[in-house]
Amino acid sequence: MRKPIKGFSKLSKEAKIEWLSDQFFDNSEDAINLLKHYWHEDPKVQKLHDEFIENTLSNYYMPFGVAPNFKINGELYTIPMAIEESSVVAAAAKSATYWLERGGFKTSIISTKKVGHVHFIYQGDAQKLQSFFEALKPALLKDTEELTANMRARGGGIIDLKLVDKRTAMEDYWQIEALFETCDSMGANFINSCLEQFSQTLQREIKAQDHFKEAEKAIQVVMCILSNYTPECVVRSEVSCIVEELNGDAGISPEEFAQKFQRAVRIAEVEPYRATTHNKGIMNGIDAVIIATGNDFRAVEAACHTYASRKGQYSSLTHCEVKDGIFRFWIEVPLALGTVGGLTRLHPMVKFSLDLLQQPNAEELMGIVASSGLAQNFAALRALTTTGIQKGHMKMHLLNILNQLEATDAEKETIVNYFKDKVVSHSAAVNKFCEIRGIKSPSEIKKEN
Ligand code: MEV
Repeated sequence: MRKPIKGFSKLSKEAKIEWLSDQFFDNSEDAINLLKHYWHEDPKVQKLHDEFIENTLSNYYMPFGVAPNFKINGELYTIPMAIEESSVVAAAAKSATYWLERGGFKTSIISTKKVGHVHFIYQGDAQKLQSFFEALKPALLKDTEELTANMRARGGGIIDLKLVDKRTAMEDYWQIEALFETCDSMGANFINSCLEQFSQTLQREIKAQDHFKEAEKAIQVVMCILSNYTPECVVRSEVSCIVEELNGDAGISPEEFAQKFQRAVRIAEVEPYRATTHNKGIMNGIDAVIIATGNDFRAVEAACHTYASRKGQYSSLTHCEVKDGIFRFWIEVPLALGTVGGLTRLHPMVKFSLDLLQQPNAEELMGIVASSGLAQNFAALRALTTTGIQKGHMKMHLLNILNQLEATDAEKETIVNYFKDKVVSHSAAVNKFCEIRGIKSPSEIKKEN
């Protein structure tokens, strides 16, 4: 039986790897070598990566690709995407080219406010707390002046403070809800520091109020934390054209395409099973750019899914309208992003991505990311409502299958050519590979047995 280890974090990287190899890989050199194989050859670059997280043993590669030809608000972008799934970058690039010829993507910022809470328990008179809070606001702002100085100089800071009575949701539960403008930074540390200061000011000031009973003064702060749900930090991206311009899909008229497409979006609006997959496809486009630009994709995912449920049922993040001969397709998503701070200056590939995007500010990045999500969804729905998704998907997947089989470049070329006009399946790809190699395929071996 394995024993727990004490002080693992204090071990050197080498010692951690040795322990792992001893405990889980029968002291295999292969496991050790694999981890070391993925170390960066430049020790300085490796050290940088080691220090991003704790207990780092190695690096985990993710493909980094680009989707060119994105016309957004009249500017041409080549969008960086870090993602492991085949077809996503191709789909983004295909949509970008399609809309390049039809006016491109138009984005607008709906709002950029971020939110955080001091969650606390107060057992006492509600009216008293409410009037005390109004008088407390100047102290809350004053006590955070030092923390907010830099942000205020950049045009941001604390925008609003309010007391929220949450007692219908949970006994004695109250919140200080604070709205923030964090300009081009994600602002998580800034927000959390302000909230922790609010908590201290609240507890200090209430103790000094003679008209509060002792039980009322004994406020219990449960936690101070920003919310990743940012319904007031929202961007919209839209594409539109006259219906006749929706040409180019063999065997289907622009009118029929517009109708099928609109119905597909409607299904995602009314049916959570479909909405989940529909939004997953959107997140393919969003997460890939979020990761490439060093933002927090878990935060964005969480926000988007809560936003998709805001009307009481999980629904589509995109919408479509066909009216007066015009086709309009748009997305509205909460994206709390930063282009300064965090990983943006530390990770060389993140810096590269932001340079590639011509150093956008946070609002521009919001528009770029939303357009990538919209492009992805357009490509998925276009395929789903015309040829079906598997044709293109399996073609891309073919390379993964061939790589797994360790096919040579020449074998890959022959097999990809062979499947140009045929349906790809895993077994068909394996059979073709075996035929070319002159070896028995798994299905032949099974038959013989
Ligand atoms: C696959 O990663 C994403 C899709 O399933 C999205 C969709 O169905 O809309 C193709």
